[in-house]
Amino acid sequence: SKILLIVGARPNFMKMAPLYFELTQTAGFDPIIVHTGQHYDYAMSQAFFEDLQLPESHHYLGAGSGSHAEQTAKVMIEFEKVLAQEHPDLVVVFGDVNSTVACSLTAKKQLVPVAHVEAGLRSFDETMPEEINRRVTDAISDLLLTPSVDGDENLRREGALDGRVRCVGNIMIDSLVTILGRIGADQEAQMLDDLALGTGSYVLVTLHRPSNVDEPDSLRQILVYLNHLSEKLPVVFPMHPRTRKNIERFGIDVPFTKDFRIIEPVRYRQFILLQKNARFVLTDSGGIQEETTYLKLPCLTLRPNTERPITITQGTNELVDMETIEEKSDRILSGRWKEGTVPALWDGRTAERIVRVFQEFGVSDSATRKE
Ligand code: UD1
Repeated sequence: SKILLIVGARPNFMKMAPLYFELTQTAGFDPIIVHTGQHYDYAMSQAFFEDLQLPESHHYLGAGSGSHAEQTAKVMIEFEKVLAQEHPDLVVVFGDVNSTVACSLTAKKQLVPVAHVEAGLRSFDETMPEEINRRVTDAISDLLLTPSVDGDENLRREGALDGRVRCVGNIMIDSLVTILGRIGADQEAQMLDDLALGTGSYVLVTLHRPSNVDEPDSLRQILVYLNHLSEKLPVVFPMHPRTRKNIERFGIDVPFTKDFRIIEPVRYRQFILLQKNARFVLTDSGGIQEETTYLKLPCLTLRPNTERPITITQGTNELVDMETIEEKSDRILSGRWKEGTVPALWDGRTAERIVRVFQEFGVSDSATRKE
């Protein structure tokens, strides 16, 4: 069988890598990597391929930025050509970005079966573009591979056929476990040294959601608060291009303290180390809520809701808004925070389980077995 693995944006790469390696190294498949080009900066894309030791993509669609319709449409047009050329037996999509929905829709219309890795997550917030992507992708996918049982429940409620839903665990944790095993203590010490940071001595921040950074007042208010926080503990903020562009566009000029450190987006290896050694993390990302839960590191999520509630009920995560952020960060700083437990099947073996499900569904390695 011919399998296409689709990636487009930064959070896709660490979800695809473990499956790529499981398929090639253990199961005898020869999958084809399709990169839509939704993220195109070296630091947002290529650097992740390097850290994950992935080969170059077989197809690069060069979709780039644009409005949602433009970006989604460009991916669809280009991906349709790849389908015509490759005639795959299965298309695998990951997560909830525009590339995910674009490729699943295109494949289904060409009668190619689709597997969605990270199915079933719901924020129930329709103002969030990713929520639309999740619902559409799940509605049409043939195989719904969920990271935790709340995903199964959401899908069942929406009427997904039982046979299609499989709880396989969290594939991003596979990558996290692998990279942690690869980083030496000396490398770790060196990185902290380079940034003049000590273990547990700083707050790590990432913010890029439109709801936080696309509106001048909200972005300004957040930056003012972070500046204030940096007087208690250094703040390290690897800044997403979207956030950086908005600060410039809105002409926001906060008199930043020397301990408010805005840096370029960092590569995967570095980001994992920055998390591991932080006092706590403040984020609006999806995946970071999960990584901090695995690392048992306190996490504040600056959003009104999350599609990953298990990181709150079981893990170390809590939601905050501008009213509660100070009280909750003080609570962390004074050592009063939950320890959390790691959810079931977040164990580094999700890719193995996915390949077993593929085999059960009749996806065989025979057509592409390497000699
Ligand atoms: C996308 C995903 C989001 C994910 C995030 C992780 C969607 C709807 N959103 O949001 O779910 O959490 O990726 O990063 O798919 N830009 C660059 N260089 C790049 C990529 C983007 O400069 O390599 C700039 C462009 O100006 C672009 C903007 O960032 O317009 C936003 O990029 P886009 O891919 O539209 O969405 P993200 O905010 O990155």
